[in-house]
Amino acid sequence: MKIDLKPSTYLAPVPAVMVTCGDARENNIITLAWVGTVNSEPPVVSISVRYSRHSLPLIERTGEFTVNLVTKELLHATDVCGTISGRDRDKFEAAGLTRGAGRAVGCPYIAESPASLECKVIKRVDLGTHAVFFGEIVNVVADEAVVKNGRLALEAGRLVAYENGKYLYTGEQAGTYGYTAKEKK
Ligand SMILES: Cc1cc2nc3c(=O)[nH]c(=O)nc-3n(C[C@H](O)[C@H](O)[C@H](O)COP(=O)(O)O)c2cc1C
Repeated sequence: MKIDLKPSTYLAPVPAVMVTCGDARENNIITLAWVGTVNSEPPVVSISVRYSRHSLPLIERTGEFTVNLVTKELLHATDVCGTISGRDRDKFEAAGLTRGAGRAVGCPYIAESPASLECKVIKRVDLGTHAVFFGEIVNVVADEAVVKNGRLALEAGRLVAYENGKYLYTGEQAGTYGYTAKEKK
């Protein structure tokens, strides 16, 4: 038997990332799970930021943000950056993270992250509780160690996902894109 539940935000799993924002003088980190890839050319990601967040006016003012991918080693810092506000603490200091000077945007990236997607806001949509910013990825700052033939090649299972209050490591590789097309009939 199927039951109808009250509509809610059950979509899962989603990525957990740390987004940096601001400029060289005033900047912040916010942990976000309501993020997505929404266009290929140009490459665009969306981030959904609740109106009460300290980060929101920083993103609005500069029109820039950076999405820093999160590995297992960064889980603790990710939770710290999602539970305290930049209004009260310097989160780089609180989470033990290092600022890298932005390359194509003014906000710093997180040096400990294997890959940081530098974005410029191309659109903002307000939906009630959250502002959704669409950011065109204008540069990707990546660790040499995770780049193969000019592309990001992170080992499977090292990234962190989020499922309704629980953190997950993405786990074992289960297949590759299009593998069913290669199966023998
Ligand atoms: C795993 C996780 C995911 C989160 N996802 C979001 C999100 O998608 N949007 C949002 O506005 N806040 C999200 N938060 C909450 C913010 O990270 C949190 O309120 C933070 O303290 C805000 O920081 P700020 O006030 O410095 O901007 C999330 C927190 C955690 C721990």
